[in-house]
Amino acid sequence: MSHHDDLIAKDILGYLDAQENKSFLRFITCGSVDDGKSTLIGRLLYDSKLIYEDQLASIEKDSVKSGTQGDKIDLALLVDGLAAEREQGITIDVAYRFFSTDKRKFIVADTPGHEQYTRNMATGASTADVAILLIDSRYGVQVQTRRHAYIASLLGIKHVVVAVNKMDIMDFDQRVFADIETDFRDFAKDLGFEEIMCIPMSALDGDNVTTKSDRAKWYKGPALLEFLEDVDVDSGTLDNPFRLPVQWVNRPDLDFRGFSGTIASGVVKQGDEIIVLPSGKRSTVKDIVTFDGSLKSAREDQAVTITLDTEIDISRGDIICAAEFPAEQSDQFQAHMLWMDEAELFPGRQYLLKTTNKTVPASVTNLKHKVNVNDLSEEAGKTLELNEVGVVTLSLGAPIAFDAYNDNRMTGSFILIDRHTNATVGVGMLDYSLRRASNVVWQDLNITKAERAEMKNQKPAVLWFTGLSGSGKSTIANLVEKRLFDLGRHTYILDGDNVRHGLNKDLGFTDADRVENIRRVSETAKLMADAGLVTLVSFISPFRAERQIARSMMDEGEFIEVYVDTPLEVAEKRDVKGLYAKARAGEIKNFTGIDSEYQAPLNSELTINTVEMSAEEAAEQIVAYLRENGYLGGV
Ligand code: ADX
Repeated sequence: MSHHDDLIAKDILGYLDAQENKSFLRFITCGSVDDGKSTLIGRLLYDSKLIYEDQLASIEKDSVKSGTQGDKIDLALLVDGLAAEREQGITIDVAYRFFSTDKRKFIVADTPGHEQYTRNMATGASTADVAILLIDSRYGVQVQTRRHAYIASLLGIKHVVVAVNKMDIMDFDQRVFADIETDFRDFAKDLGFEEIMCIPMSALDGDNVTTKSDRAKWYKGPALLEFLEDVDVDSGTLDNPFRLPVQWVNRPDLDFRGFSGTIASGVVKQGDEIIVLPSGKRSTVKDIVTFDGSLKSAREDQAVTITLDTEIDISRGDIICAAEFPAEQSDQFQAHMLWMDEAELFPGRQYLLKTTNKTVPASVTNLKHKVNVNDLSEEAGKTLELNEVGVVTLSLGAPIAFDAYNDNRMTGSFILIDRHTNATVGVGMLDYSLRRASNVVWQDLNITKAERAEMKNQKPAVLWFTGLSGSGKSTIANLVEKRLFDLGRHTYILDGDNVRHGLNKDLGFTDADRVENIRRVSETAKLMADAGLVTLVSFISPFRAERQIARSMMDEGEFIEVYVDTPLEVAEKRDVKGLYAKARAGEIKNFTGIDSEYQAPLNSELTINTVEMSAEEAAEQIVAYLRENGYLGGV
C-alpha cells in the first residue's frame, strides 16, 4: 500500500482538502548525460512511493538485464523516456513528469544534457520555477553547468539547486563539496538568482534526495525534496499587473460576448478597470466565467472568459490589461536571444516573431554582441550559431504590446520562426523598446513618387538580374540600360562588383554577408524607384529568401526578376575573371556554384538562356518585355 492509499483510508476528507489546496511547483533538471539525472528523478518518484508494484517488478528485471548498476535497481530505467535513450544511454527530448507529495504537486521537465540540445533545456526552463543543476562531484563545475545556469537565469528562474551528486564515490568528503559550492557561487554571483541551494547527494543510494542522509552529518541544509516542498516561488509574481492575451472571442448568442484566454500574469476581479491594447479602449470587468461557474476574482495561469460592462471592439490577439498599468507598445527592441537552429541567424533576413498573442514579420537589425556563457564575457560576431546567445536589436513589421521580460515572463518573451521551413529558430527575451526608433516619423515629403516618375515620363521599375558569377548579368544589364537611355529613360545600374567597392566594402562572401549585401542593395533600389528611376540591379543574389524580400519591398508590379540562366559548366568555362579557376584551386572560399549555394528562381518574370541567345538578343527581349507590359509608356 502506498503512502497515499494510507492517507485516503484514514482521512478521506482531509486528504481531498489537502489535494485541492496544494500548490504546484515546476522545475527542470539539467546536467550532462552521466551526471545521474535520470537516476535522480527516478529516485524522487521511487521514494515518494509513486511507483506501482508491477512497474517495479519489470524494472528489476530490466536492471539485471542491462546490468548498469550491479545488483542495485537502476532507477534511471524508471524514467524510461524514449526507447532510444535506453539504447544509446542518452536522453533526447524534453519529458514532463508529474508527481505529488502531501505538501505539493510537481511537474518536472527532464531536459537532455548534450550541448546540441540546449534548446530543449530552454523550452523546459521557460516555465520552470526552480532549476536543479546536477554536478558530478568527481568533476565539479563544467562548461555545461555554466551554460545551463546562464540560460536558467536568462529565462528568469530565480531559485537554483546545485545537486552535487555521486558524493558516495567521494566518501562524502566535505572539502570536495565546499570547493564545488564556492566555484559555482563565484560563477553565478552576477546571474541574479535569489537563492542558490547546494546539496551533497547520492541519487543512486538515495542520500539527501527525499530524506536527510547520515553519511553527510556536516551538511545542515534540507534534502532535495524537502527544499522543493518548501521553496517559496509565488512571492512577487502575483503583484505583476493583470494581462490577458485574448485567444478567442466567445459569442454563443447575441446576449453574450466574452473574451477568453489564459491569464498571463496578475489578478483580475469583478469591477476592475481594464484597457485593451492596441486599441486603447477602456471598460470594466462585469463577470469572470470559468468551467466552475462565475468567479469574483481569478489569477495567473487560470483559463477564463471575461465579460465587460460596455461593448467595445476586442479581437483575438489583443491584450486586456489592468487600466492603471497597461503594457507598452513598440516595433523596435533590444532583446536577448538563444539561437536554436542548425542554420545560423542572418541579420537582415525576415523571420516571423511570435509572442503569446501575436505573430508579426521581424528582422534582426543588428547583433550587438554574443555572450560567452563560460565566463559571461561579450564577444563580437556577425551571426549566431546553434545554441549561441546574443544581444540583438529587432525591427518588427507591426507594433506589439509587450512587457520587458524582467517584469513579465509571458508577455516579454517571443520565438522566431523561419518563414520558409516554419521551424522555430530562436527564443528571445525582450529587454526594452528602442524608443529612438519609434520616434522616427517618416517625413511626409511634398513631392510624391508618382510626380517624380511623371516628370520623367516613365514608370519606376526595378529590373533584378540574378545568376551565377560570369553568367552575363552585368553585360546584359549594361546593354539594356544603353537602350533605355537611347529611348530617353532615366536609369541607374547597381552592380555587385561596384557596390562592393563602396557602400558594401565591409562585406565578404559568407552567407550572412551576402544576406546583408542584398538587404542594403534592396533598400537602395527602393530609394531609386522612389526617385522615379528605372533601376537595374545586377547581383548574384543567390538566396530566394532575400530576393523575395526585395520583391515585397517594392510596389506592386515594380519588381521584375530576370534570371540569367547560365549553367555552371558554361560560366566556369568562360571564366571571364579567372575566379572559377582560383575557387577550384581553393584560393577563394565560398564561391557561388562551387562551395556556396545558388538557389535558382522558381517563377521569375523573365529567364534568359545565354547558351542559346547572344547578350544583344537578351537585351532586346528584356526591352520588349518592358514595352509590352506598359513600362515604357508610349514608346
Ligand atoms: S552576392 O552573392 O552577394 O550577390 P555579388 O553579386 O555582390 O554577390 O558579388 C559577386 C562578385 O564578386 C562576383 O561576380 C565576383 O566577381 C566576385 N567574387 C569574389 N569572391 C566571390 C565568391 N566567393 N563568390 C561569388 N563571387 C565572388
